[in-house]
Amino acid sequence: MNDVETLRVELGSRSYPVHIGSRLLERAGGLLRALFVRPRAFVVTDEQVAAAGHAGRLEAGLREAGITAHRIVLPPGEATKDFAHLQQLLERLLDHAPERNDVVVALGGGVIGDLAGLAAALLLRGVPLVQVPTTLLAQVDSAVGGKTGIDTRHGKNLVGAFKQPAAVLVDLDTLRTLPPRELRAGYAEVVKYGCIRDASFFSWLEAEGVGVTAGEVEAQRRAVRRSLAIKAEIVARDETETSGERALLNFGHTFAHAFEVLAGYDGRLLHGEAVACGMVMAARLSEELGMATADDRRRLEAVLERAGLPLHPRDLGLAFPPAEVLAAMRHDKKVRGGRLRFVLWRGPGRAGLVDGVPEETVLRVLAA
Ligand SMILES: NC(=O)c1ccc[n+]([C@@H]2O[C@H](COP(=O)([O-])OP(=O)(O)OC[C@H]3O[C@@H](n4cnc5c(N)ncnc54)[C@H](O)[C@@H]3O)[C@@H](O)[C@H]2O)c1
Repeated sequence: MNDVETLRVELGSRSYPVHIGSRLLERAGGLLRALFVRPRAFVVTDEQVAAAGHAGRLEAGLREAGITAHRIVLPPGEATKDFAHLQQLLERLLDHAPERNDVVVALGGGVIGDLAGLAAALLLRGVPLVQVPTTLLAQVDSAVGGKTGIDTRHGKNLVGAFKQPAAVLVDLDTLRTLPPRELRAGYAEVVKYGCIRDASFFSWLEAEGVGVTAGEVEAQRRAVRRSLAIKAEIVARDETETSGERALLNFGHTFAHAFEVLAGYDGRLLHGEAVACGMVMAARLSEELGMATADDRRRLEAVLERAGLPLHPRDLGLAFPPAEVLAAMRHDKKVRGGRLRFVLWRGPGRAGLVDGVPEETVLRVLAA
């Protein structure tokens, strides 16, 4: 199957298409040509993505439409999402004397998407951005929605901007070179969509979800399409996370971000793995507060476990003192008026934002 499916993120004059399919890098020129006022692109990527051949495929595709691409390659990994690399990237872009209508193309996982997206928002006060996600996590989540940012010593994503892309190209072929552990990590975000919005998608994941992590292209296509449709719908309704609806996408993330800060972004705990553990914790917390049942939580655990995801940091040999996790949570963006705020679960397809969860309850769940 080689046809392209296109979803739209509806944001008035800033609406944009999300193309999903195979061999899209090769066809990038045709799919994106209309965005280019002058035919010049900056392809920002990382060493691993470039070594897998994806930057070459994309640049050849752009060349077919007469677009010249300048490649900027950064080191792979979460540590690249910092002030130093943001500065380096901006200086390297400026070395090419960019103009306002040159296009930044972020080719890579969430790290490149978040960093290059922020650089595109800052360069000349904003140049067009195209997201070309190459990890499952970025394909189902970070490439769509316009959140960009970097990490600081205070926590993840605390410095950033909303920068909607002008288009997103999701080439499913890029997943073939993705390390299996990264594929599993991205699957955690797929499960999240079933949890917060779509009970029948959750049931499909229970039955067929392993196909996604086993590399079955049709299962991947279906998982990516449904996840992105949910994300696009939520972003269209609450672009800047003001009504609370977009915050539902953070199911499991208050715990996850705290685990990541404590693990220190050194590769022992991937973002998606932290999200898997965080969702299980959020389900336990929901159970403690009488919102979800033990059976709901066990179903979630089974879906994650079948894909080989951790259910608790200790499954990866990590132990975080509950008081330290709680302290890290207080720095999270989801804190309101000094009170902790959680996305809690009411079973497959249903989640809600809850303020003022008692700290003793959170500590009890963390200690379990
Ligand atoms: N902006 C948002 O809305 C949003 C949402 C979720 C997560 N995020 C952010 O995304 C980041 C995590 O993203 P990620 O999981 O994609 O990590 P990542 O960008 O670090 O990519 C994971 C690893 O896979 C490699 N890689 C990427 N694509 C590859 C491919 N096709 N073949 C071979 N190797 C490949 C990368 O080089 C890297 O080593 C976190 O910083 C997180 O905060 C942002």
